[in-house]
Amino acid sequence: MKLKRDHFCGNLNKKNEGETIILAGWVKKRRDHGGLIFIDLGDKSGVVQVVFNPKVDEESHLQARSLREGWVIAVGGKVRIRPIESVNLELETGEIEVIVENLEILNISESLPFPIQDEIEASEETRLKYRYLDLRRSVMQRNLRLRYEVTKQVRSFLDKKGFMEIETPFLTRSTPEGARDYLVPSRVNPGEFYALPQSPQLFKQLLMVAGFDRYFQIVRCFRDEDLRADRQPEHTQIDIEASFIEENDIYNLVEPMLVHVFKKTLEISLKTPFPRLGYEEAMDRFGIDKPDTRFGLELKNISSLASQSKFHVFHRCLAQGGEVKGLRLPGGSHLSRKELEDLSQRIEPYGAKGLSWILLTPEKIKSPLSKFFPKAILLRIIEHMDGEKGDALFFVADRKEVVATSLAQLRLDLGKRFNLIPKDVYQLVWIVDFPLFEQDKEGRLAARHHPFTSPKEEDLPLLEIDPEKVRARSYDIVLNGEEIGGGSIRIHRRKIQERILEILGIDSLQARERFGFLLEALSFGAPPHGGIALGLDRLVMILARAESIREVIPFPKTQKAVSLMTQAPSPADDEQLKELHIKLREESFPPQ
Ligand code: AMO
Ligand code: AMP
Repeated sequence: MKLKRDHFCGNLNKKNEGETIILAGWVKKRRDHGGLIFIDLGDKSGVVQVVFNPKVDEESHLQARSLREGWVIAVGGKVRIRPIESVNLELETGEIEVIVENLEILNISESLPFPIQDEIEASEETRLKYRYLDLRRSVMQRNLRLRYEVTKQVRSFLDKKGFMEIETPFLTRSTPEGARDYLVPSRVNPGEFYALPQSPQLFKQLLMVAGFDRYFQIVRCFRDEDLRADRQPEHTQIDIEASFIEENDIYNLVEPMLVHVFKKTLEISLKTPFPRLGYEEAMDRFGIDKPDTRFGLELKNISSLASQSKFHVFHRCLAQGGEVKGLRLPGGSHLSRKELEDLSQRIEPYGAKGLSWILLTPEKIKSPLSKFFPKAILLRIIEHMDGEKGDALFFVADRKEVVATSLAQLRLDLGKRFNLIPKDVYQLVWIVDFPLFEQDKEGRLAARHHPFTSPKEEDLPLLEIDPEKVRARSYDIVLNGEEIGGGSIRIHRRKIQERILEILGIDSLQARERFGFLLEALSFGAPPHGGIALGLDRLVMILARAESIREVIPFPKTQKAVSLMTQAPSPADDEQLKELHIKLREESFPPQ
């Protein structure tokens, strides 16, 4: 390199007028006006126009003819203020330009698979395949910058509060968080595997036993689960644990931390305290434990009124212990048959067998339910739902869980479709009083959060009589309908931990085998402790106003857990497998 950069493109302005400077970067755009050649030169800071004029330097002007988008160059030249008629207000540096005196071509480029610009038409597949080009776009640069700022602010906040960042192993034993483990075979221990941590849960608890008192870590977690827009096989947590604390201490730590992050990164002020909503109430009002509280459309139960109809669907459902709930869409009475049909289909995947509706058009009440309900009851339902002229009311009858999930989905759908969700609003809410257990697909009791979560002291007697009624000392934090964090006060007494594992169907032999080290640690004076983990990817996604966490992760994987750029995962060669003492089953050979 003959020309050594001394300025960044995007930082130049009128104050640099007359200075002789050197820039380096990529050719973003090139316009050849015969006499003059204009190049938009870009680096991480932004873009500036550089001008090649044969009268200034004949050689560089000649060379500039061959420049193409994506080439890497360095230029030396003089900053000048643009004539008023060629000022470009769309460009931060639009008031100036650089008159080139020297050009050095540092590298050429194949023609780019897509233009490097914010509005992108390329498919996500192409973007992920050429991620390093996609990341050159200024939106992506901004997103990753924001991510860095968030972690920086979190670190400085927690540091001031006396927390210390401590690393924990990646090659470890299973840390159950409800997903499958990623396994890593051990070469030196034939037939044995490490598991990548689903979270540092057990280690952070052990650090409390070790007396560190306040731990945090910005840490990668690995979970083999079905992927969605807000889930990746590896995600990052802001992981926190502290000793001698209770629930309120967590709220009083996390709330100011988020206030600090929002303020420092986006100049947004959050109101504290964040509201707290019981799990039961959240399920009742929103049908979901991560409600988007930016808008209304809350659910209401009409079971007792529904029982007074002649509608067999409602009757059968109620007789089988189900319920009938509904929601009101203000101004929805104009919906067409087709639109109603569409809405009904949208909730089918959630198990709903149908969607009933009442349209309160300005002229009359329209509803397939009319023929089954005495008019008086129908009016009482409308009244119960606070229905007004112009509204649409929707109802689902089914098992409690199906009603909840399908109406929760319908609520979100309607919210989006009718623009009921305000932008630029950040609604944070704590969800508390979760049940300690839930039933898994096979009907067995499973930990709702994880098996190390403490039951509420007052619910301990229920553990033996009615475990499903036991509430946990756990909490989730929800931002605009996205679960951005969760945690709990932990069990710090060995006896209770053993009993919980037992209830979860892990007998004492298994417990000792899988969690022996934790149980042992608890028996050596474990202090009361608890903590939380915030999903960094989800938090940054919302701050960046992105639609998917892939937009804030530099090298994410697809829904099929594949990296389109590196082509990982990929087959291992025989030699490697042999060293690892692994023989593949025939049916699992990858297609050739
Ligand atoms: P939990 O399993 O609730 O708790 O995870 C904490 C937060 O991490 C985020 N998250 C994810 N983000 C992206 N992709 C994923 N696959 C993914 N899975 C989880 C969510 C979630 O709220 N050890 C406990 C915390 C504790 O008890 O302290 C834990 O991991 O935002
Ligand atoms: P059917 O008697 O099945 O033709 O249904 C009559 C109306 O009731 C239709 O508008 C259905 O969409 C609606 N419906 C059917 N099943 C349910 C249900 N489980 N919950 C709410 N509405 C339903």
